[in-house]
Amino acid sequence: MKWSWLIPLLVVALVVADDDELPLAEICDQEACQLPDCRCSSTSIPGGLEPRDTPQFVMVTFDDAVNVINTETYREVLYNRQNQNGCPVGATFYVSHEYTNYQLVNELYNNGFEIALHSVSHQTPQAYWAEANKEIMMKEFGEQRQMMSHFANIPIDTIQGIRLPFLQMPGNASFEVLAETGMTYDCSWPTITHINPGLWPYTLDYASTQDCVIAPCPTASIPGKWVIPMVTWRDLDGNPCSMVDACFSPPRSDDADEWFMYFTRNFERHYMGNRAPFGFFIHEWYLRAFPAATRGLILFLDSINNIPDVFMVNSIDVINWVKDPVPIDEYRARGCQNLRSRQCLPATVCGPLVAPHKEEQFYMSSCNACPGTYPWLGNPLGSN
Ligand SMILES: *[C@@H]1O[C@H](CO)[C@@H](O)[C@H](O)[C@H]1NC(C)=O
Ligand SMILES: [Zn+2]
Repeated sequence: MKWSWLIPLLVVALVVADDDELPLAEICDQEACQLPDCRCSSTSIPGGLEPRDTPQFVMVTFDDAVNVINTETYREVLYNRQNQNGCPVGATFYVSHEYTNYQLVNELYNNGFEIALHSVSHQTPQAYWAEANKEIMMKEFGEQRQMMSHFANIPIDTIQGIRLPFLQMPGNASFEVLAETGMTYDCSWPTITHINPGLWPYTLDYASTQDCVIAPCPTASIPGKWVIPMVTWRDLDGNPCSMVDACFSPPRSDDADEWFMYFTRNFERHYMGNRAPFGFFIHEWYLRAFPAATRGLILFLDSINNIPDVFMVNSIDVINWVKDPVPIDEYRARGCQNLRSRQCLPATVCGPLVAPHKEEQFYMSSCNACPGTYPWLGNPLGSN
């Protein structure tokens, strides 16, 4: 073992490298920062397109565990719906692990929807997320990606996005995990000031000009990793809200038309403006609590799905367009994406499973062989 003396040296070198500070992001250099891999934070339309040539993307997203109750709503609101170009609509699910039914995640995937990550534990307090380091982020998101791919039986490279619980970013650490695992984007960062015109997605090669609503926000240079800004809505009193269910003064009404008008007014700020992607970010419980909001949402989706230059898509499809921004005609000619199917065989309910974090017996629906114990932080595949 002639070279064994090298090993301690390598270990020392790695530890030192890990302690190194990340480079601080500098003011964006428009010349150096070019698509497809770099974009300065900006409200200007990618590719220098005019608004009328720019597809109006709509990103509908749902957070948290996927279960038999909320899947009923997803089927009612989203399935068998098409954009005006005849392609199935997209939506993105930021899935947290605890109580998730992975057979239903597989069903969502097979219906063309994007599966993204919302952490393993989704634990409180919020300070846990604000203070999380890279190791914690790696367990919550890097390992969750393996878990999701395994139990829902979906290709790991289709999982490209994350959203932090409580929209509480830890500064740079979640973006470092995107970089280390080869994922593409985060969608946790609200903007209150850049809503009209709205902020378009951008990369973190250079310093962001976005307002930091929930500190700490990333300030390091993390090349090629994308931010999808959560362009806030305005409620009926003009208060900003990053998620539809967090608005302070929504319509308090049983009248679906009032909800429809409210959704439409927020949409029009984008559609009549710089066409920054329009986010409809919500939790399913809200639709169950307010049936008129659900009917209003269905009216709203029926309406926008009939507009030729509006496209309701997966969030990753928005990034892919921004990287290669083509005018509407060319975009339509590309045809439909996301037609796919992955088996869920044998469909199995696993359990009772013992979990390390809670005295509770878990039952978990899986598309893959059952784990020996409930998958959790540090043990994503639930090995004994
Ligand atoms: C992010 O990285 C930058 C550059 O190293 C550093 O100045 C900043 O303090 C880091 N932020 C957090 C929250 O650690
Ligand atoms: Zn959540």
